[in-house]
Amino acid sequence: MKRLSRIAARLAAAVIAGGCFSIMTVSAKSTLKGDMNGDSIIGKGDVRLLQGYLLGDNSIKEEQLPCADIDGDGRIDGFDLALLKKNIASHTDKIPAGTWRAEGSKGVRYYNFRSGTVYDENSGINTSYTCTVSETNLYFDKNVCGDVGHALYSWRDDTHLVLRWDKGYIEELTYFCDAPINYSRMLSGQYVGTGSYGTRTFDFNGLNGTFKNTDGTGMGFRYSVSGNNYVFYLGAAGTPKKAVRTDIDSMHFNLKWEDGTVERFTQHNIVTRAGITYVNGILIANKTYSLPSTYNPGGLTADAQAAFKKMQSDAWNAGYNLWICSGFRSYAYQSQLYNNYVARDGKAKADTYSARPGHSEHQTGLAMDINNASDTFNNTAEARWIAANCYKYGFILRYPQGKQNITGYKYESWHVRYLGTALAKEVYNSGLTLEEFLCIDSVYKS
Ligand code: DAL
Ligand code: ZN
Repeated sequence: MKRLSRIAARLAAAVIAGGCFSIMTVSAKSTLKGDMNGDSIIGKGDVRLLQGYLLGDNSIKEEQLPCADIDGDGRIDGFDLALLKKNIASHTDKIPAGTWRAEGSKGVRYYNFRSGTVYDENSGINTSYTCTVSETNLYFDKNVCGDVGHALYSWRDDTHLVLRWDKGYIEELTYFCDAPINYSRMLSGQYVGTGSYGTRTFDFNGLNGTFKNTDGTGMGFRYSVSGNNYVFYLGAAGTPKKAVRTDIDSMHFNLKWEDGTVERFTQHNIVTRAGITYVNGILIANKTYSLPSTYNPGGLTADAQAAFKKMQSDAWNAGYNLWICSGFRSYAYQSQLYNNYVARDGKAKADTYSARPGHSEHQTGLAMDINNASDTFNNTAEARWIAANCYKYGFILRYPQGKQNITGYKYESWHVRYLGTALAKEVYNSGLTLEEFLCIDSVYKS
């Protein structure tokens, strides 16, 4: 038996720093336990070296000695050899099961050798392949790493693998989860989570993400997804938390967490282009989000006009006469209207029913007032028909009754906003205002 007190301290330091497990390049010097010949692969060559060394041939280079102390007891002895052989024997000729997270200088990839997939986090591309194994060789039926389809692999332990591709690229793999990942169910971008955990914002990027609570605290996480089953690994400790997803509509789903808590997720990608705000691609004009004074689509959009014509015709056949009493309004015209209302009723009152210039939905070319923009229209047969049917044509009633504190405006039975039929139906079915549906507010900030 050989005493290793000199290297024991170095070993301990490396273990504490986590350095033992961070081999990234093929070099003569390896810190991978069991890799005495420094080729980044634990194999028969290493067994031969260790055997020789124990028989006194001094075959292991001094800087590789820490790698020979496999059980980490500060000695290199027969126990290390037994462990090395056991490790190799127990993993020979087996394609690793489950999904593995691979890290290398080219970035992060996820492998599932049995289902034959590799997902590249940088490019977002998921590649399918067939993989066969022979001892420490993984053969792929196509090139999945640069222009090579063959890698040597070795087990560091049951949850850590190393791949060395023919061109020398090294990937360190850590066991990630049991099931293959369903990449089509991966989440991306921003979401607001609401429920008894409070309101939190999530930012998903591939199989990683972060969340933030309203008080500014938060955490990074990783997650896996298979079908509707998600497993979140929170924080550095990676504590797994399971959740089952139920889809609600194109912008919402629920996650039911292990403890029974249901959290509602609302997609929340807010983008500003040329001064115009889009929430999940929907152009928004309200008290919070304004349009530039120069924004002028030149009238109602062609889609909004066509949708109205269709609605008008169907309404007519059902016995109702609908017409547009106010469609597109320019910034300048809205300015005139608003100033007149302020002069008549004062600013506070005017703000309950008229948008300030730049904040009117009429400037978008997607909104219109039907028949009669006054309270006397409320509860007429036409108003009721519009409320019950406009979603079928792609419109929503934008300022419903009792939602003034959310939309920022009192009830307008005559004002509809074009969203397209698919989305209008979702908003209608949700029973929510557009602000609630998108988790946005409508409040003047100045
Ligand atoms: N009446 C609506 C809120 C507008 O002025 O655009
Ligand atoms: Zn209006």
